[in-house]
Amino acid sequence: MTTGILECSPAILVAAGLSVLAIFFCYLAFFRGGTKRYPPAVGTVFHQVYHLQRLHDYHTGLFREHKTFRLLSPGRRQIYTSDPAVVEHILRTNFTSYGKGDFNYENMSDLLGDGIFAVDGDKWKQQRKIASYDFSTRALRDFSGGVFNKNAAKLARIVASNAATKHPMDFQGLLMKATMDSIFTIAFGLDLNTLDGSADEGSRFAAAFDDASEFTLVRYVNVFWKVARFLNVGVEATLRDRIKVVDEFVYKRIRGRADEMSDDKARDAHPKQDLLSRFILATTSDSGKVDYKYLRDIIMNIVIAGKDTTAGGLSWFLYMVCKHPDVQEKISKEVSEATANAGEAASSVDEFSRSLTDEALNRMHYLHAALTETLRLYPSVPLDNKECFSDDVLPNGFSVGKGDIVYYTPYAMGRMERLWGDDAHEFRPERWLDQDGAFQPESPFKFTAFQAGPRICLGKEFAYRQMKIFAAVLFRFFVLALRDEKASVNYRSMITLYIDQGLHLTATAR
Ligand code: HEM
Repeated sequence: MTTGILECSPAILVAAGLSVLAIFFCYLAFFRGGTKRYPPAVGTVFHQVYHLQRLHDYHTGLFREHKTFRLLSPGRRQIYTSDPAVVEHILRTNFTSYGKGDFNYENMSDLLGDGIFAVDGDKWKQQRKIASYDFSTRALRDFSGGVFNKNAAKLARIVASNAATKHPMDFQGLLMKATMDSIFTIAFGLDLNTLDGSADEGSRFAAAFDDASEFTLVRYVNVFWKVARFLNVGVEATLRDRIKVVDEFVYKRIRGRADEMSDDKARDAHPKQDLLSRFILATTSDSGKVDYKYLRDIIMNIVIAGKDTTAGGLSWFLYMVCKHPDVQEKISKEVSEATANAGEAASSVDEFSRSLTDEALNRMHYLHAALTETLRLYPSVPLDNKECFSDDVLPNGFSVGKGDIVYYTPYAMGRMERLWGDDAHEFRPERWLDQDGAFQPESPFKFTAFQAGPRICLGKEFAYRQMKIFAAVLFRFFVLALRDEKASVNYRSMITLYIDQGLHLTATAR
């Protein structure tokens, strides 16, 4: 004979456990909340662990009932919003009361140090100022444009060699390498060459870097990570090991470049255009003292910011246009028309890629719309948060306490019918075009893929340029198709939205 509890399914046991926790936290929240009005509590943070595989869809479902809600948790209050007015409030109107805070800093600083992603206040201001100036200079635009053109052509050559055999390729894997090579060259002035697999040291660095990013994010769901770090066990031990590999590689490059630049003659003879050289000049003291740790943090943050976000966005874009062959054909036609002036001379991938000037790219409104429509449905950063620095009241009348975390939710917001209409779930690039076919941007507080306000993504224009160059080269030379039309595709619940199991496509030459 079995007992009743043993006859229960694991799902019933988990549900019962979650209900007990929910009642406990409701009780706790009542006493902590006092008379203030907080957003409705619709679950606990433990429900998120249960729904981890479909986390963003779980949030989307909850938002259909409440624009802003709370998940009960031990410690800080966790507030989630899909309301553009609240997003505008935390990202712009009351900017000084919200930031990364110690919650994010503690989770991220082993890898990100004091880089722009992890810090607030003066440290953030200084890096933002230097980086926004650099990102807007003609020299960096030209340099990065050349890097994107070269890597897009390299990618196309790899695709061409497989197209002949009709062998499916994992495009997400290829794009991860291509964007790593691009951002590393722009940041350090050095081609890692992971795309053609020829650089062993570079590939080892890239693999360690990917692991370190992934294991850092595990801290957001593992409340016991500090204990594991202290004991140096499990994922935390691996993280420490991977950060060591990353640091050795990066410090070697920084020392080498700083030494080169301390030699005035060599510096004047070969002025460098990469970000590292620019930051060395901007941060080295008058006495010539170089702050290696600070440089490491600044540059590593830009690599992290620019790599997976762009590769993820491009991967979902290729997936969507393979699902919608009519969109793929429209893009291919637009690319041909926008580059018609380059003429027949641009028949090789290298020549064609070089012909993709800013003027040509600016003519590609439909491609721009298709990329934006992809980021609406599959934003590279699906969920983001800010810590509240002082008690506040949101525009919807709900209170937020000092130390609470407010999440804004690009994935869920992109799917809200109340924001995008009844066809919110449909992939329709036309929604971004006016009657003359010109791209029309939306409010960044409604389309939040690049964040908004003073901390809006610094690399947005860079990202669009790289994505447009890669897409234009691919669709000028190939028709892409899913290996298996019927296979279901899911995301991996990391901070960056990846396609779980990769993106397997076949390519046919046009
Ligand atoms: C599709 C591609 C991209 C998307 C969707 C994206 C999205 C975002 C988001 C959501 C943030 C806010 C993160 C936070 O502070 O919590 C951000 C910040 C940032 N992004 Fe991007 N990004 C992309 C590409 C890039 C690229 C290519 C670069 C650099 C070359 C870049 C540089 C940065 C930097 C430096 C910040 C920090 C800004 C600050 O805190 O002031 N991003 N990005």
